[in-house]
Amino acid sequence: MISNPAESTIDSAGGETQTDLNIATVGSFPKPKNGYVLPTGSAEHLRLDLQHEAPKLVQVALSPTESHQRYILDVGTGSGRWAVEMSENFPNAKVLGIDTHLPSVLGDPSRPVPSNCSFKIADANCDMNNLDSMFDIIHQRCVEPGINDTDLFFYESARILRPGGVLLSVGANPQLIDTKGRILPIQKPGDVGYSHYQHMLGYLLEIHLKKGPFRIRHAFWKSMLESNPNYNQVKIEQVLVPLGPWPGMGETERKLAETMQQNLLRLWPTFKAILERDGGFSEEFVHNLSEGGLNELREVPPPVRSYSKWVFTMAVRNENPWTAQKEPWQEPPGFDMFDYFVRPLPKE
Ligand SMILES: C[S@@+](CC[C@H](N)C(=O)[O-])C[C@H]1O[C@@H](n2cnc3c(N)ncnc32)[C@H](O)[C@@H]1O
Repeated sequence: MISNPAESTIDSAGGETQTDLNIATVGSFPKPKNGYVLPTGSAEHLRLDLQHEAPKLVQVALSPTESHQRYILDVGTGSGRWAVEMSENFPNAKVLGIDTHLPSVLGDPSRPVPSNCSFKIADANCDMNNLDSMFDIIHQRCVEPGINDTDLFFYESARILRPGGVLLSVGANPQLIDTKGRILPIQKPGDVGYSHYQHMLGYLLEIHLKKGPFRIRHAFWKSMLESNPNYNQVKIEQVLVPLGPWPGMGETERKLAETMQQNLLRLWPTFKAILERDGGFSEEFVHNLSEGGLNELREVPPPVRSYSKWVFTMAVRNENPWTAQKEPWQEPPGFDMFDYFVRPLPKE
């Protein structure tokens, strides 16, 4: 249980909340007028410009052409639903979903897979050069934890993207974050603002770092793509999505908040299992931490108004001949991972 909600409650004033990250929050806006729930400030307008550009670029990349068959690749397709919907929306294109596991849509007779959609078992870390098409769109959503070297993945994607083809990457960071994009720190158990949830995330990060390689790099996607000679028109948008509904939310934001709450509740057993398997903690400790986190997640309104960060990136394959990665990507000087992830409590 978080012991002092007031301490950690975010301020919800003003639609102009801006940080260096150019975060457009769905939570930071003035009281809605005429039922319109989204913000109206300049940060939001940047987001809208991106939203305006993205479908245009995708539509251009997928417009019917006599010269070649259009191809779409969905990397880490999961259930396969994105691939199926894209094949329905773009019947002139052929969609390939790849994953290390078979997608569940293949076993769902209620929703037959369209003939222009197919799936293949393939690993984004080593099989990108075994795909025999040139793609107009490459999409990956939330596959980052399974990609060893995202910079290399961007290079490999460029190799199989047509000039003008679009790379779309989506990443999520489930940290508890305030409206200014700041990570809510872990407090000591019993201290004001203590959150089991945030404490658990701290341990999960420690486990991820111990196992290596460290993969959660979406904070650097923009600089990786901008320094990649194969791309231009790099755009990134970071959106804070509220966790759990609280009073005063408009309908859209409430739905978003409830969806995110349900999403995390379903993710919770996985978090718990990782802690049990790799954390080296006692069963009782994991049980208490997990139950505490679950109670926080289930509480409506939540004890702390917080957000998770979603990162949307796109880049266009330029006309230049493909250039391979010359050396592994380096973290920029002065990089402190705890600017992006919650800092674990110091060991006692
Ligand atoms: C969190 S799910 C996201 C699924 C889907 N993209 C979505 O947004 O609904 C991540 C998926 O990526 C797959 N995956 C993880 N690492 C992968 C890799 N190296 N190559 C291919 N697929 C991978 C997992 O099997 C899982 O289905």
